[in-house]
Amino acid sequence: MYRAPRGTSDILPKEQPYWRYVERKAADVCQIYGYERIDAPTFEDTGLFTRSVGEETDIVNKEMYTFEDRSGSRLTLRPENTASVCRAYLEHGLHNLPQPVKLYYITSIFRYERPQAGRYRQHHQFGCEAIGDDDPALDAEVIEATWRFFESLDLRHLSLQLNSIGCKKCRPGYLTALKDYYAKYTDELCRDCKTRLKRNPLRLLDCKKPSCQPAANSVPRSIDYLCPECDTHFNRLKKYLGLLDLPFTINHRLVRGLDYYTRTVFEIQPEAEGAQSTLGGGGRFDDLIEELGGKPTPAIGFATGIERIILNLKKQDISIPPLPSPQVFLAHIGEEAKDEATKLAARLRQAGIGVIEALGNKSLKAQLRQANKLGFEHAVIIGEQEIKDGTVILRDMTTSVQKTIPLDKLEEELLR
Ligand code: HAM
Repeated sequence: MYRAPRGTSDILPKEQPYWRYVERKAADVCQIYGYERIDAPTFEDTGLFTRSVGEETDIVNKEMYTFEDRSGSRLTLRPENTASVCRAYLEHGLHNLPQPVKLYYITSIFRYERPQAGRYRQHHQFGCEAIGDDDPALDAEVIEATWRFFESLDLRHLSLQLNSIGCKKCRPGYLTALKDYYAKYTDELCRDCKTRLKRNPLRLLDCKKPSCQPAANSVPRSIDYLCPECDTHFNRLKKYLGLLDLPFTINHRLVRGLDYYTRTVFEIQPEAEGAQSTLGGGGRFDDLIEELGGKPTPAIGFATGIERIILNLKKQDISIPPLPSPQVFLAHIGEEAKDEATKLAARLRQAGIGVIEALGNKSLKAQLRQANKLGFEHAVIIGEQEIKDGTVILRDMTTSVQKTIPLDKLEEELLR
């Protein structure tokens, strides 16, 4: 028997209320902060991702679903969506609109990872990108929108971690300091970190392997190497976050797993757990649009993982509003009544009333048992007598009280 591919899942009807809840809260936050929805293709030219996410990242090195199509083009299922949004911004001349252009998405993401709780090969992200302004007030606003989104979901016990990793002017100085520092620890580092030391030293900072922890303890801090512009930017951001009453922790080891970040980086984590369970993250990517062929265009954004949000909603026992379902179960006794019921179901649905009609020729008792199992509060019953009288029986399924109603008054009664 076929099964869903490893690391993917079906979202069954009983899970859908969680998804609609999260999506609705996301859309509400976006409306309040002025973000408009964008949907990009599921796959893009592979080069878009290697260029923007970075050749030396785990995502590009180990996790991309890349294939050649029948015409020989190399394509990749999106392993994140920021690059696609930037590509669309350039392709459609969105720099001609008033800046910043604020876009949001709710979309599937594909990464070939080792599946475990909260880590999948296909997951879904809600994310926002604000492109075209470098004001630290925009950083604060984006972080605030992320935080308010989690608050609107009723999620509690979250922490906001913040760092600045500088720009292309000051980062090289910091990388040199990192390399010099880690050179003393080369024998102790894990195999991946030995490679990172040569190719992507920033990533040394978020290695979780025990062998790399002693070295990480007194590692140089990026904020001590910021150029005056980045330093001012970071200080202003902290001031704005204070004005907005957003509690944050500076995490000197927060560097994020994608190479396009500049200056501000941040993550939202459940207080009790480690980075495995990060609920969302983002930061500035001031050089990315230029890297992709545009004019220098500063930008900032974030993304959150919907599966992880739902895991936390369940863990915190947060009750989710149910989705609307059909209101009336339509039961019938006899062939003629079944014909009438078929016409009546169509008539009620035309009036916007959700109906499930009994199928087959089961006894009335069996039909009502089914209505009960499906959780209906009301059933409408038609039999021979009702057809003769031009009436129907309306049954309250919780109290079993029944009343007879003229057929032409049924919509009115049900809507009431
Ligand atoms: P990211 O940190 O790679 O950032 O992913 C964002 C969120 O997606 C994570 O915080 C996590 O909740 C969720 N996530 C990531 N990988 C998985 C997985 N394998 N299974 C389940 N959930 C996962 C980005 O993708 C950036 N594009 C965010 C961004 C937007 N930066 C600027 N703008």
